[in-house]
Amino acid sequence: MNELLKKMHTWMDDYMNQFVTDDEEVMQGIRIKREHTGYVTAIARELAKHLELSEHDVQLAEIMGLFHDVGRFRQYSIYKTFNDAQSEDHADLGLKVLAEEMPYMADLSAEDADLVRYAIKYHNKKEIPADATGKYLLFAKLLRDADKLDIYRVLAPFLDPENADKAPKFMKSKSTDLISPDFIDAFVEGKQADFHMLRTLGDRRLVRLLWVYDVNFGWTLQKMVERGYIQKVIDHLPEQEGVQVGIDRLWAYIEKKCAAPDVVPA
Ligand SMILES: [Fe+2]
Repeated sequence: MNELLKKMHTWMDDYMNQFVTDDEEVMQGIRIKREHTGYVTAIARELAKHLELSEHDVQLAEIMGLFHDVGRFRQYSIYKTFNDAQSEDHADLGLKVLAEEMPYMADLSAEDADLVRYAIKYHNKKEIPADATGKYLLFAKLLRDADKLDIYRVLAPFLDPENADKAPKFMKSKSTDLISPDFIDAFVEGKQADFHMLRTLGDRRLVRLLWVYDVNFGWTLQKMVERGYIQKVIDHLPEQEGVQVGIDRLWAYIEKKCAAPDVVPA
């Protein structure tokens, strides 16, 4: 599979190069996704190794990281946005790109190709389907974690007010820092909030903390803590009733999850 992996990396590099343009604003978005692709590929490998997967499965994880956001480039060039709700689901779009333009899927075994497509399809959905089992569940969990860990890296600098103006347009928000009541409730209860109900900048920040409850492996959570991503979001939450209760609950959850060994689903 080493040769195949090399060809896939080369294809992806060439593919991303096609989207290079003189438009600086567009390039900002493209650059962010290109870097994100590199990091998620590396994290997916690292997490697969931590889980002591076979070398073959470590390489599959690498392929998933490499292609997980391939749809972002077509999405941005057509719609000029990374907002799925305002365009189309970028994971589903990515599967179309792979089917139409990536010649090497057929070089994977049928099962491996299915696993790659499955993990990509569900990397951005609200949840992994309840009927997922075995390697489908394992790789879907792995890719979601790798993606989230790197999204914290991407978004962290924009929490600082001095960087807010440098943020690409799709990340900017003029709205208030205050968190909507239904999001506070979700935080206090340690549950996911309805993403479609996002109204304020405060809601957007809080949603990032609620992701913690959707992280699958203690390994990933540990990295998020070590790199200061969690504390940084917390530091930028407004003082509102219920916020501290939610923060305490969050830290207690993190401590417990990090202390438990990571298990590969059967
Ligand atoms: Fe994605």
